[in-house]
This record gives sequence, C-alpha cells and structure tokens, in this order.
Amino acid sequence: MADSSTLNEKSTRRVFVETFGCQMNKADSENMLGLLSEIGYEHTLDSKEADLLILNTCAIREGAEDKVFSYLGAWGKQKRKRPEMMIAVGGCVAQEKGASILTRMPYIDVVFGTHNLHRLPDLVLKARSEKTSVVEIVQELPEDLPELPVIRQSDFSAWVSVIYGCDYNCTYCIVPYVRGREKSRTAEVIEKEIEELTQAGYLEVTLLGQNVTAYGHDLDPKIHLGDLIRRLEKFEKLKRIRFLTGHPRDLQDGIIDAVHEVESACEYFHIPIQAGNDRTLRRMARGYQVDFYKRLIEKVRNKIPEASITSDLIVGFPGETEQEFMDTVNLVEEIQFDACNTAAYSPRPHTHSAAWADQLPEHEKYERLRFLNSVVGEVSHRINRRYVGRREEVLVEGESQRDETRLSGRTRTNKIVNFEGDKSLKGKLVDVEIQSANPWALRGSLCSSVVPAK
Ligand code: SAH
Ligand code: SF4
Ligand code: F3S
Repeated sequence: MADSSTLNEKSTRRVFVETFGCQMNKADSENMLGLLSEIGYEHTLDSKEADLLILNTCAIREGAEDKVFSYLGAWGKQKRKRPEMMIAVGGCVAQEKGASILTRMPYIDVVFGTHNLHRLPDLVLKARSEKTSVVEIVQELPEDLPELPVIRQSDFSAWVSVIYGCDYNCTYCIVPYVRGREKSRTAEVIEKEIEELTQAGYLEVTLLGQNVTAYGHDLDPKIHLGDLIRRLEKFEKLKRIRFLTGHPRDLQDGIIDAVHEVESACEYFHIPIQAGNDRTLRRMARGYQVDFYKRLIEKVRNKIPEASITSDLIVGFPGETEQEFMDTVNLVEEIQFDACNTAAYSPRPHTHSAAWADQLPEHEKYERLRFLNSVVGEVSHRINRRYVGRREEVLVEGESQRDETRLSGRTRTNKIVNFEGDKSLKGKLVDVEIQSANPWALRGSLCSSVVPAK
C-alpha cells in the first residue's frame, strides 16, 4: 500500500484564483496562473477541488481590504476540513501588510507582494515541502523586468500591462505605496507579445497601467503611449486597442492624435478627474485645475467628436464642503461624462490625508455618493439614448450576466450592448442595431447580414 507521502505527491494539482481590484490585478492573476502551470498546477474555477487557493487583493479602500479578511476567514474554515489545501495571498494588501497577515491568520501558507510575482512558484514549492508559512515582500520590481508566462481567461480580448507603478503622490491614494515607482516595459517586448496575441486570434488588447498615460517616459529613448499605439497599427488582425487608466496631466496631444489616426484605437478615454473643485484638487495634490481638465476634454472632443469619456470621482474628501461637493456634481452635468466610477473617500494607511483632522462622517459621505450617483446615472442615460437607432459594431463577450438568454458585448466606445443571438458568436465582431438604452447598457437586435450561415 502506498504511504501517505506518495499519496500526497499527486502529479497534477489544481489552483483557484480570486481577484479583487483593478484590471492590473486581473492581468497579474493571469501571470500567476501561467507561472504555476510551470510547476504542475492546473487552473480550476471550483475552489472546493483546489489544492491551492490564491487571493489577489486590493487595498484601494477600506471596504476592499475588509473583503480580503472575510474571504481568508472562510478559506481558513475550509482548510480545517482539508488541511493539505494551501492558501496564498498576493496583491496590494499583501504588499502593504506583509508578514502581519500571519499574526491574524497563521494558517496562510504563502504571502507575496506586487513586485515579486515571478517568485510565486518557488515560494509555493518551499511552503509545500517545508510545511511552513513563507513570506516574501520586496520593495521594488526587478531591474530587468522578467517576461512572465500567462494563462489568459479570454481567447479574444487580452490585458497587456505596459507600465507598472505610479510616480504621483495623490494625498488619498495608497497605490504608490503598494505598487512602487513607474517602470515601463519596452515597446519591443510589448509588440512581440501583441504580435503573438494577434496570431492566436485575439481581436482586442487593453494596454494597462496604474498610470498608463505616462508610458515610456522612463525608457531610453523616451517614447509616449501614442508612439506605442502607432507601433501596433501594423497588426491588421488586431481590431481594437484600448488603454486604462491614466492621469489627465499625462494625456498629451500625441496620444489623442494617435487614437484619432490609428483605426484600431478605440474612441474611448477614461480620464479620472476625482473632483470638480480647485481647492479639493489642490488638497488632493492632483497637479491640475478644473479648467485644465475642461480644456483637455475639449481637445479630445474637437479631434474625436464621437469619443466616449468616463471618469473617476471621489466624494467626501476630508474638509470637502457641501458647495465643493456640488461643484463635482455640476461638473458631471457640464462635461457630460458617459459614465463615472464613484467612491466615498476612504482613509488609507501610508497616505497624507488619512491623518487630517477634518474627516467627514460616514453618513455624510454616503449621502453625497448617493446623490452624485443619481446625477451620473441621469447623464449616462441621456447619452446612451443617443445611440438608439444607430448600428454599432459589437465585440461579443458572452452571455449577458443579467439575462442568460441574451448575449452581451461592447461597442468601440465601451458601451455594454445586450441582444439576442447564438452563443457561437462569442469572440466575434457583429453589428447590432440599438433599440433602447438605460443608464448602464444598451439593448438591440443583431443585424441579419452578420448572422453566420448555418
Ligand atoms: N491613476 C488613476 C487612478 C488609479 S486608482 C488616476 O490618477 O486617476 C483608481 C481610483 O480609485 C481612483 O481614480 C480614485 O477615484 C479611487 N481611489 C483611490 N484612492 C481612494 C480612496 N482613498 N478613497 C476612495 N477612492 C479612492
Ligand atoms: Fe493614485 Fe492615480 Fe494619484 Fe497615482 S495618480 S497616486 S494611482 S490616484
Ligand atoms: Fe487595488 Fe492595487 Fe489596483 S490597490 S485598484 S489592486 S493597484
């Protein structure tokens, strides 16, 4: 009879990954899966059958961090029933808290940070063989960025990280602390990755960075995001190029021009303003005033009138008066954003504004958030209604989350479109005639000319 050690040496193990936070975290998770496949871990979507559970965490707001600890608590209970199961925690909360996570949750096997993803296989093997918890957090990315293996979750739309970190120091934001300084990948390695993607049939790439608009300023020779987009123009099979997320100050004319001129670059700009009031922007240390932002939007719209423009907004920043908050609300009306990510200010460790005395009570922040959301929704609805009657190119992503009998996809301007159609259209570009709109999505019907012949 086999002894327990041979029983434990299974040839294939399974890994389950839960990802919180931004698209960069999603991209990192795909690299984690790639790295772990090299030591025999297959991806599973069922945590109950996994030998290794990974939580890729986000620290942007307190709520995101609380979610991490409630997940880890639940996984701890699972581990009591299956002690051989391993748990690893990575991402921004791991980077921030390091070994202290083990004080609260000693059953965690591996804690790794945002700068040493490439070490994950070694750390897992070490924890597994030595049956001990392993913690490794480093303060910077390796000098020469390693090219990491990847297992992507989509076979038609890919995340491609092009710059890591953020050199700004907004007074509310933990990202510079957990993601470090800006570091760009070279255009050559990005181009090679995207060439391979197009050969594999990918139609869409989203270039990612915590501050993607700063791409290339640290390279020698310096280039900008517009140059990179132009270098991708030659891939004819690549139909859509997007980029996320950036700081308005870095959205230089060359980037707007490239989006205008390169056919595959989508008419979509996510340009976070954060607040519509100059005193608040100054105290946030954003480095621009509302007027600068308005001129920037004007520039985008003069060049690309059909562009959709979305933003991020924070309400209830310390010391924000009711009038200052209303400036943000009024700005949404004035700019006519297609959509906005809105959030109540959350004081974060390692940030300046967390220590300020004039914090607003939670109920006040949430009241402001509710009101702002209602205005954002009205404006989005108004803009979305303009699509009714138009014929739009849609990249089909799959079944609609709300209604499985429908398909869901996105326009070039990043509007969600739901429509009836065959599942085989997933991953294809189709034309949809838009028939109705709500604040969050459009509804339409597939144009008959694109239904594939049976
Ligand atoms: N680099 C981008 C933003 C990346 S962080 C920019 O400069 O705009 C993503 C979003 O999280 C931010 O735009 C901001 O709206 C939100 N956010 C960051 N810190 C926050 C905090 N402490 N409380 C509430 N929202 C926050
Ligand atoms: Fe955070 Fe964006 Fe400011 Fe950087 S630029 S500190 S990521 S809000
Ligand atoms: Fe969150 Fe880290 Fe992204 S804090 S938003 S996962 S960079």
